[in-house]
Amino acid sequence: MKGLILSGGRGTRLRPLTYTSAKQLVPVANKPVLFYGIEALAAAGIRDIGIVVGDTQAEIRAAVRDGAAWNVDVTYIEQDAPRGLAHAVLISQSFIGDDPFIVYLGDNLLAKGIVPFVERFVDAQPAAQILLAHVSDPERFGVAELTEDNRVKKLVEKPAEPKSDLALVGVYMFQPEVFQAVRKISPSPRNELEITDAIQQLIDDGLTVTPYIVDGWWKDTGKLEDILEANRLILETMERRVDGEVDSDSQIDGNVVVEPGASIKQSKVRGPAIIGANARITSADIGPFTSIMNNVRVHDSAIEHSIVLEGSDLSGLQSRMTDSLIGKNVKILRDPGTPSTYRFMLGDNSEVGIP
Ligand code: DAU
Repeated sequence: MKGLILSGGRGTRLRPLTYTSAKQLVPVANKPVLFYGIEALAAAGIRDIGIVVGDTQAEIRAAVRDGAAWNVDVTYIEQDAPRGLAHAVLISQSFIGDDPFIVYLGDNLLAKGIVPFVERFVDAQPAAQILLAHVSDPERFGVAELTEDNRVKKLVEKPAEPKSDLALVGVYMFQPEVFQAVRKISPSPRNELEITDAIQQLIDDGLTVTPYIVDGWWKDTGKLEDILEANRLILETMERRVDGEVDSDSQIDGNVVVEPGASIKQSKVRGPAIIGANARITSADIGPFTSIMNNVRVHDSAIEHSIVLEGSDLSGLQSRMTDSLIGKNVKILRDPGTPSTYRFMLGDNSEVGIP
């Protein structure tokens, strides 16, 4: 059995971060989302993993390399443009060969991994196995309509009027027959070859598609709120570990991870929270539900329910910062010369909320 992680695409909903970075590399609890997917496949015993990459391939290759860190073999498959999930599957046919395989969307996170689902797929060998989750906004996803005896009746991609609240989770298991189904479908209104339509094609061809509803939580981290929520959920599972330096004027409450080389002075950190390697926290109040990445400096500021990426420098924020995602090497500094003015240099599609 092989694994295929889809990490191409454009990540338009996460701009401006995704102008310079792949959305699959946005960290959740200081670890790129994509790494959770690799771990999930490795835990299910998959050793051969293809990663479909697009414009952001250099960054993804630099982060994942040959997969040795997870004891897996990674093959990169280049997609010329984001022509759809089914297109990404189709161009991977020579990598997959005659093996059954798991498609894992590189921006998806599942609390409990996929091991029991893979076992069921291997036992029953249906043409496809899909995972479903109840959601409050099904129009954002592929949506499944089931029969009374829990068989898949119909799958529709992002329907304006969803027939159920069951969203397709971004983890699919297939026999190689799916390649024939993909060849039969046409591009959708958003001009993509949809994996949802390919699975519907399998159903129309009379093949077995087995649905399972996931227990535990599932997140598609394509939007800011979902990343922050995933960050909260992962941080809640972490145990306290303090490897950095904490001075005697600081207080660390609850499940807080302080990585080696980090230093915390005259500050309070409330868990769950993580402070990355070589971060410098002084006279600050951090957490709960906050991830501070490596080499970040926070001085004289309060931050909660937020993620701050590598190398950023936050100092003298007068109000508590909350529900925020700050990119790499961002500076938010108090400007002593101009007490009553704001001074910004923000990338396209940035968003700043002011009180
Ligand atoms: O997250 C679950 C949802 O994922 C499903 O409910 C939908 O049925 C499915 O179509 C998909 O919807 P999205 O619109 O959220 O997919 P997105 O464009 O975000 O792409 C998902 C991943 O696949 C992401 O890591 C980028 C990658 N991708 C996407 C496209 C369109 C590729 O590698 N190649 C592509 O051509």
